[in-house]
Amino acid sequence: MLSQEKRDIIKATVPVLEIHGTAITTRFYQLLFDSHPELLHIFNKMNQRKGDQQTALANAVYAAAVHIDHLEDILPAVKQISYKHRALGILPEHYPIVGENLLKAIKQVLGDAATDEIIDAWAAAYGVIADAFISVEHEMYREAETQKGGWSGFRPFVVQKKVPESDVISSFYLVPQDGKEIADFLPGQYLTFKVDIPGETYTQRRHYSLSDAPGKGHYRISVKREDGRGDIPAGLVSSYFHNHLNEGDVLYVSAPSGDFVMKKPADKPVVFLSGGVGMTPLVSMVKTLLQEQPGHSVTYVHAAIHGGFHALQEDLNTLAETNPSLNYHVVYEKPTEQDKAHKHFSKEGFIDLDWLKQVVSADSDFYFCGPTPFMKAMYRALKGWGVPDDQIHYEFFGPQGSLTD
Ligand code: FAD
Ligand code: HEM
Repeated sequence: MLSQEKRDIIKATVPVLEIHGTAITTRFYQLLFDSHPELLHIFNKMNQRKGDQQTALANAVYAAAVHIDHLEDILPAVKQISYKHRALGILPEHYPIVGENLLKAIKQVLGDAATDEIIDAWAAAYGVIADAFISVEHEMYREAETQKGGWSGFRPFVVQKKVPESDVISSFYLVPQDGKEIADFLPGQYLTFKVDIPGETYTQRRHYSLSDAPGKGHYRISVKREDGRGDIPAGLVSSYFHNHLNEGDVLYVSAPSGDFVMKKPADKPVVFLSGGVGMTPLVSMVKTLLQEQPGHSVTYVHAAIHGGFHALQEDLNTLAETNPSLNYHVVYEKPTEQDKAHKHFSKEGFIDLDWLKQVVSADSDFYFCGPTPFMKAMYRALKGWGVPDDQIHYEFFGPQGSLTD
């Protein structure tokens, strides 16, 4: 329990730390990796290069500090982070290492302004916040391990099938090497992979959403190959999956995780909006929804640059053919003549609010996923239409960011 004096110091210093937030977390990561280079096997360096990870960590620490009196108020945010931590294999013994380096970074960035009193108060607050994370994660590890077909840590899976789905996306069908049962999952959840790439010093960990409905006896993920552009190198893991991973190869996978899941049962019309490879969790959701609630009013809108980039077409075409209650629309930015002949082709260009108003009702539950500019455009459109927040659900394919800046 934090003393009133320490709480007061925390509340008074949150705004100061917020101003220096990114400087502190940037320094924090330098200190962390200098003192514990083995943690580079867990963190994704690219997320730090882009600054997303620094911002996400800073925001989470300050949000927790602001709510230090009532951490239960931010439990959903803690859980969202903890799902990722559990999937990545973060353990209680990692927390003091992060705490120590975070405090060092605060001291170094604030200099004399960081008095002993302030540092003591933040050390105590970090302890309270860390305990909250550790206890949520403990429960998640227990659930992952004890559920039917579940496991802890990273379990070997064999690539049973590799199927090209578009010019840049391929699906990978995975079965456990031990031949035993696999855990069920909720549509929208992801698997996390620990990958050793020849020539790379550090192990890479990445999340990939499950792209098919549950209950098939295997897992399917669908991965976009992130090609290099000019000076920008190609994505490490996605290129490795596409160019080097073959049927029969083994991958190390942690149990399904994530809180981007559907409200059950759906009581309003449901609208799915996907951009590019952001379709993977939504395809799993739409298939499951129509299995569990046939006849429910569902609209699926997929946006892609053109037909060559449009994956999982067979899944959605078959679904539309067999479910009259599904309205399926395809929006291509630059369609070819052949693309325009697609049975479900609806619009050239982008999804915008004027068009959305013609095809769906605002009184729906909306689920969307795609590149960040796509997500921002969808969020702006839905908010501009007056859709309440509790009907808007989305997932970032990277560190949780903001849709409003
Ligand atoms: P990285 O090596 O991590 O690089 C990331 C990007 O940065 C690449 O586009 C790369 O070209 C670019 N880059 C590399 N070097 C530089 C540089 N110096 N400067 C600027 N840019 C650079 N992806 C899917 O394909 N399918 C999914 O279903 C899916 N589901 C996800 C679910 C969740 C919950 C999350 C968080 C992510 C998901 N992702 C999914 C994204 C996936 O986890 C990876 O982030 C993605 O595959 C890129 O990883 P990579 O190793 O190929 O690229
Ligand atoms: C991701 C917060 C402790 C390792 C994250 C994210 C946040 C966060 C906000 C981004 C989640 C997202 O992707 O949306 C915190 C807080 C902590 C804490 C507030 C302490 C109270 C730790 C510890 C470790 C750790 C102890 C292990 C050393 C990671 C890793 C990621 C992550 C590896 C994913 C980053 C990436 O590679 O993309 N954390 N974290 N975190 N965290 Fe933590």
